[in-house]
Amino acid sequence: MKIIAGNWKINGSVAELDSMISVLNEIDTENNLIICVPFTMLNCKKSDRISIGAQDVSTHEHGAYTGEVSAKMIAESGAKYVIVGHSERRQYHNETNDIVNQKALRVLESGLMPIVCVGETLDQKNAGQTFSVIENQVTESTNGLENYILAYEPVWAIGTGLTATTQEIADVHEYIRKLTSANLLYGGSVKGANSGEIMSILNVDGVLVGGASLKPDDFLPIIKSV
Ligand code: PGA
Repeated sequence: MKIIAGNWKINGSVAELDSMISVLNEIDTENNLIICVPFTMLNCKKSDRISIGAQDVSTHEHGAYTGEVSAKMIAESGAKYVIVGHSERRQYHNETNDIVNQKALRVLESGLMPIVCVGETLDQKNAGQTFSVIENQVTESTNGLENYILAYEPVWAIGTGLTATTQEIADVHEYIRKLTSANLLYGGSVKGANSGEIMSILNVDGVLVGGASLKPDDFLPIIKSV
């Protein structure tokens, strides 16, 4: 059983989500399927076969924080998962490990499962800092969390068509495995053509998929590649 999570970012529509859920409801799979959607789509029809997740959450539980959505509100929608610390949040919204950690704690307190993302930039990789960056992100972002999923997504591999090599994924996941017993996902340009190989790597418990999770024609081959 693998975890296959889609991250729709600001893509898709209510109609497309409805049709994706209908398609996934028909397929025969033991995998844990998750689709992380924009806040406005969290209220979609729920299914026993597919869990819905959000892509971010407020560090605050309630109050005067215009534009934010609390973990409790996400839980109320029937969603089960929340991505926290995606590299696009870290990069464009200056989210630090401490902020990511606070968000993940709010998620857990609301009975939801955080998917905590970590990953090195190309500059950090080229400077030979991959392991130290990852260790720091994992340790600080998951501080005090009793339960979580961890997604390793090299920033240079997200949306670029570049995927880490099997060896790179194996090495980083082995390194992370020594830091945590959480389920570990790989993300970054995962598609049907490489997902089977990626999910067969030791310590890879599943994948986090961006672009290739938007259309059933691209997402189904990933689910079937396990
Ligand atoms: P990608 O995105 O699959 O489009 O590279 C992955 C992600 O951002 O989670």
